[in-house]
Formats: sequence, C-alpha cells, structure tokens
Amino acid sequence: MSTLLLAFVLAASYYLYSKRNAGKHFPPGPKPFPILGNIFDLTTHELWVRITNWSRLYGDIMYIHVFGQGLVFCNTAEVATDLLDKKGSIYSDKPHLIMTGDLCGCENMVAMTRYGDKSRRQRRLMTQALSANACKNYRPLLANESLTLIRRMVSDPSKYLAYLRWYAGGLTLQSIYGYRADSPEDPFLMLGMDCVDILSNKIASGGGIWPVDLFPFLRHLPSWAPGAGFLRKAVVWKAKMEEFVDRPYELVKQRMREGTAVPCFVTTLLEDIRDGKEASEFDAQRDFDIRWTANSMYSASMDTTITVVSHFMLAMLTRPDVLAKAQSEMDTVVGSSRLPTFSDRASLPYLECVMSEVLRWGVPVPMGLPHRLMEDDVYNGQFIPAGTLVFANIWNMLRNEELYPNADAFIPERYLEKPPKHLNLSEAEEQEWAKERNPRNYVFGFGRRVCPGSHLIEESLWIVMATMIATLDLDWTRDERGKVIKQKITFDNAVFRTPSPFECDIRPRSEQALRLLNSVESSL
Ligand code: HEM
Repeated sequence: MSTLLLAFVLAASYYLYSKRNAGKHFPPGPKPFPILGNIFDLTTHELWVRITNWSRLYGDIMYIHVFGQGLVFCNTAEVATDLLDKKGSIYSDKPHLIMTGDLCGCENMVAMTRYGDKSRRQRRLMTQALSANACKNYRPLLANESLTLIRRMVSDPSKYLAYLRWYAGGLTLQSIYGYRADSPEDPFLMLGMDCVDILSNKIASGGGIWPVDLFPFLRHLPSWAPGAGFLRKAVVWKAKMEEFVDRPYELVKQRMREGTAVPCFVTTLLEDIRDGKEASEFDAQRDFDIRWTANSMYSASMDTTITVVSHFMLAMLTRPDVLAKAQSEMDTVVGSSRLPTFSDRASLPYLECVMSEVLRWGVPVPMGLPHRLMEDDVYNGQFIPAGTLVFANIWNMLRNEELYPNADAFIPERYLEKPPKHLNLSEAEEQEWAKERNPRNYVFGFGRRVCPGSHLIEESLWIVMATMIATLDLDWTRDERGKVIKQKITFDNAVFRTPSPFECDIRPRSEQALRLLNSVESSL
C-alpha cells in the first residue's frame, strides 16, 4: 500500500514538475533520469571536484534536479556575482528544510534562517560583534590563545588536532560566552564538536536535503515504521542541538544574576537590555536573537578555523622553502628577542602572501552554502525556477588557471607578480587585476549572506601563522633512516574541506624561540 502511495506521489510530482517547466530553456547540465533527476550524479565526498569536472562540459552555470528540486552551480565568480550579489533581493533566502529545520531544530541558526526581518536582525548583531573594528578588541585574547596553542603543540605534536580544536572552540567560548574551556575534554567544547560534526556531516551533508523535504508526508510516518529511521535520528539530534544552543547561553545569564559573568558578546548585548538602553526592544525576541546568533558564531567558527590552520601547517610541510623564506622575513623585521605582534603586520609582506595563498589553496568551504531563489528568474536567456538552490563553486574559482597559473601548487609569490606582458594593461587595470586575484573575494561567499566572520578569521589566522613562523620548525614524521613517512591526506567532510589528521614533527626553532615561548605568561 505504502509503495503504491509512494509511486503515485512520485508520478504526480513528476507530472507537475514537467508541466510547470515544459518548454523552458534551463542552464545545461548532465541528463537527469525521469522523476529521480540527477540523484545518482551527486556524492557527499568532494562534490566540488565532480561539479568542477562537469563545468568543463557544461560551462559557467549548470542546472540539475533531484526529484524536481532544482540545484544551480555558479562555476565562475562572474555568474555568482551576477546572481547572488547583483540580484541579492531574490537570491538571499534559505530553503525551508523539514529535516534540518523542523525535525532537528536548526531553523534559527543564522546560516539557515529565511531571508527577512529575522535574518537581518541576526546579521546586525553579528556585524556589531565581528566588524573589523570590533575584532581589534579581541587581539589580546587572540595573541594569548595562539601562544597557548603553540606551547601545547610543542609539548605533544601528536595531539596537534585536539589542541587546534581546543584553540578554535576555546576562543569563541571565551569571546562569545566569557567561558574558559580548561581542558580538551571540557563539556562545552565536546558538545560544540559533536554538534558541528552532526550538523555538517550528518544533518546538512549533501546540501541538507532529505527525502522528507521532497515528500513532506513522510514526516507523519510512525517512528517505528520501516524507512522512518530519519525520524528516530532527528529526535536524538534535536535534543543535542537544543543543549548546544541553550546550555552555554543559560550559564552566562545565571552568572550575570550571580554577578560573576566575564564580559563577552552575550553580556554586552544583555546588559544593553538590562540597562534599559534599548528598553523599547526589550522582549523575548531580542533574547531569542542573541541566543541563536551567539550559537551560530560558535558553530561557524570551529571547523573553519581548524580547517585553515590545518591547511597552513600542510602548506609549510609541503613547501619547507616557503617556511624558511617567511622565517627569514620574520627574523629581519621582528628579530629573535620578541614575538610578533599585530603592529608588525604591515612590515611582513611575504607573510601576507602566505596567508592569501593558504586561503586560496585550502578553499575551506568549497561550495559555499546554498541560497534559495525566491522567484522565477532568467539569466542570459536561461530559466531558473523559484525555489532552486544556488551554490557558488568557490573551488573552481580558486583553481582558475588564468588567474592562478599552476593552481594546485602552493605559491605565495604569485601575489607579488606583475600581470603577463601580453595583456598590455594600464596602471589602473593592473590594480584591478591584482584585486581580482585576492582570494578573499571568493572564499567567504557572495551576496547578502556573505560570511560575517571574515574579519575575525583574518586576525586569528594571522597571529597563529606569525607566531608559528617566528618560533617553530615543522617537518613530516620520518622513519629511523630519516626518510619521510608518506601519508595520504583526504578531505572527508561534506561542507568544509578539512584535511584528515596527519602526523608531523613540531619543534621550537631554537633555544631562544623556546625561551620566548615559555617566558610570556599565557594559559597552558
Ligand atoms: C576561513 C574561515 C571562514 C571561511 C572560509 C568562511 C566561509 C563562509 C562561507 C563561504 C559562507 C557562506 C556565504 C554565502 O552564503 O554565500 C559563510 C557563512 C557564514 N559564516 Fe563563515 N567562514 C569562515 C569563518 C567564519 C567565522 C570565524 C565565523 C564566526 C565567528 C563565521 C560565521 C559565519 C556565519 C554565521 C555564516 C552564515 C551567514 C548567513 O547565512 O547569513 N564564519 N562562511
């Protein structure tokens, strides 16, 4: 009976889909199966590589569908800008996902909120906390935490990843909730790690679209029914997500009542309410917005930070000559009697190139996050139906051989190069050319949902890289005859391009570097 019902619903959806779209000229893409669409073309493993291979066949914009749910991939920055930036008023929504939103309780996380008043309010709070200026206030915390990270890494290189998680999670717990994570097994840290993993690798893997999103009646299945495993999973995941959102937030409120809270993002905003500065806005909605925005900042910064610092380490291991060159610049500018500080940044241009190349080469979020088109659109004569999910293929943009020759290689010097002579560019055009090659134009996404954490990561990544370059030597693990032990690095996360754990040797560069690391007061 249920098979018959399913067959009927599938046939009816296909009929409606075909009728609605008959005669329309869609962007090109691999041929879909009737009803099923391109379901067998998708993969959760490095989807960006598959889409990029297709782009060679189908061009700058591609369309596929899965059971009638349209997906568009913008393979060039030009298309992503035309759609997500220039037509931001209709390309900034997020899909209403039954599994992710209703059943797992993630609908109010900033990256998932529908476009409108709520998303604008949340983004306003975030811009307040994460503007370029506001991020300068985090500098002492960042400097202290990066030093602590490096001391931990030197003490036991085999645990570099656990320390990196501690650093990434600890930093946000402190700046957002004023909470100190005193061990890598801290309960809030573990909760954050578990939930971000569930979110990106389970709930939202494959764009977050589950069968129940395509066939909403499935949500009414009894949870014991065959095929209703997703409902049982959702109950467990939702409970976890609620804990993730509420526990640290409620702790801050309790500490505020007791007078023991440490100043942070949440206390600042809650004090505005308590002091009556924003009395007219004081309501449950404000409390709700702060609670969810704080959680979104926490969850969005964990894996991204771990991913970029891991890519930096991999780059230094793969290109020891680059590490040596950056160390030589550091020695000339900073010397060996002190650690680098943010005020040295402008005097370290090679390090700046290394940082740009880490962001480009690593591509931390290769497909961005999906935007939902709110009404039918036509782009260069090609029809894109309302409801389509639109992805920016950031991977392809940052592997563009015209902008970045030998794009798979880590080459910081590319940012010091002049444009090729045959282009015959004027001075103004040369500047445009250099601007176009800045990977920051692409890595943080496009349009009105662009990443609000870019300034924070800019500061955090810089101080970690600068301190590591100033104090450490990195090398692959070697066997007893001194030969490098080969390791296979894979990228198994569905949303972030996080390298699989690797083994390496992390040592202080010199006795003097060790003395410096140990001389400065920081928390170990
Ligand atoms: C190198 C590090 C990072 C990268 C590469 C990155 C990249 C991205 C990308 C590609 C998006 C999707 C943008 C779009 O929809 O077009 C995004 C969204 C977002 N990012 Fe980041 N991010 C990073 C770090 C951070 C940090 C540190 C935070 C917070 C402290 C953060 C908070 C967010 C939030 C809240 C969103 C959702 C915004 C919305 O939907 O309105 N990100 N990020």
